[in-house]
Amino acid sequence: MAPNSELKNLIAQFSSVPKVSGVDLTGRNVIVTGGSGGLGLESALVFAKLNPARLIITARSLESGGKAVEQIFKATGYRCETWVLNLMDLKSVEAFATKAKTELERLDVLLSNAGVAATQYIVSAHGYESGCQVNNISNSLLCLLLLPLLIQTATLPPPIGSKSPKFTPRITIVSSVLHYKVKTLPVLGAGEEGRTLELMSEKKRFSNDTYQDTKAINLLNAQTLISLLPPVKDGNPTVLINTVDPGFCDTGILRTASGFFRIGVAIATALVARTAEAGARNLVYASLKETSQGAYIATCKEQEAGDFVIGEKGRQVGAMIWEEMKSIWMKEGIVYLFM
Ligand SMILES: NC(=O)c1ccc[n+]([C@@H]2O[C@H](COP(=O)([O-])OP(=O)(O)OC[C@H]3O[C@@H](n4cnc5c(N)ncnc54)[C@H](OP(=O)(O)O)[C@@H]3O)[C@@H](O)[C@H]2O)c1
Repeated sequence: MAPNSELKNLIAQFSSVPKVSGVDLTGRNVIVTGGSGGLGLESALVFAKLNPARLIITARSLESGGKAVEQIFKATGYRCETWVLNLMDLKSVEAFATKAKTELERLDVLLSNAGVAATQYIVSAHGYESGCQVNNISNSLLCLLLLPLLIQTATLPPPIGSKSPKFTPRITIVSSVLHYKVKTLPVLGAGEEGRTLELMSEKKRFSNDTYQDTKAINLLNAQTLISLLPPVKDGNPTVLINTVDPGFCDTGILRTASGFFRIGVAIATALVARTAEAGARNLVYASLKETSQGAYIATCKEQEAGDFVIGEKGRQVGAMIWEEMKSIWMKEGIVYLFM
């Protein structure tokens, strides 16, 4: 039984989250999705102090990304870049990945952080509910399209001047402790071959709980990405792929909440939320430390993930969702390796 309970989560909220030290990013390239605010911005502020060759933060507009670039520059003296990425649009994901593959010789860290906790029912132009679209269909496509660049990076020598020469390129996917509460997926998975995201996207099924299902899918998709990697060499993975829970943090993630839910969020935030800076330490830990392959990290420690995602049923549903996403990507004419 995976260890999770409300009490454990509450205690975790008050546990200290250590700052990561001893990692140098000289000569390395880092991408942080959703870097315009919240946990992504706080993570970028830490990376900026570690001397990366290029630090790219994504934003939906150059204006919001530019503001974050200025904020990071003022705080650290490091000027990062902002590139546009809209995860509601698969063509934007494809264009972003093409730019990265064209402009970057290496990619050492992809922090797949951008995400939504939808409190209103919004459907993307592709026909999927915004949480499914952003957190799963688009985020997974971005990871998949950038995977060859990360694999290629693993074959390169350490950058000149690096003080951390033994660094495994990685993808860190931001999930949530709420993945333990996955609700709809175990039910939808039965007999609904290839239609999980489609069914999850139906208006009648939408609720605040949809979020926890999308966060469970984050972990399932991480496992599929791992299965696509070249075989392990000398006991070391080519690319590390891990997932992370920041804890409940005071960010803009529930900015669209309304009514009683909004009041509840405000009270919970005042009582137990971590600051975005403290929550981001988890993301930085997962992005920089040599964790186990496929690790799920919370409070800067590897933890056992939820029963559903680590069980046989989760494996089957994960495989079905991946096939469904492949057909969605292909419908948009998006070409990728590992087809
Ligand atoms: N805060 C928490 O308590 C908590 C707990 C567990 C997990 N998480 C996870 O942590 C991650 C970061 O969330 P946060 O708390 O920092 O929330 P946030 O302040 O709302 O930041 C979310 C980021 O995602 C970006 N984003 C949203 N929709 C996007 C889209 N369609 N295309 C591209 N980027 C988009 C936002 O960009 P814009 O500025 O353009 O909106 C923003 O930079 C999410 O994956 C979330 O699920 C958060």
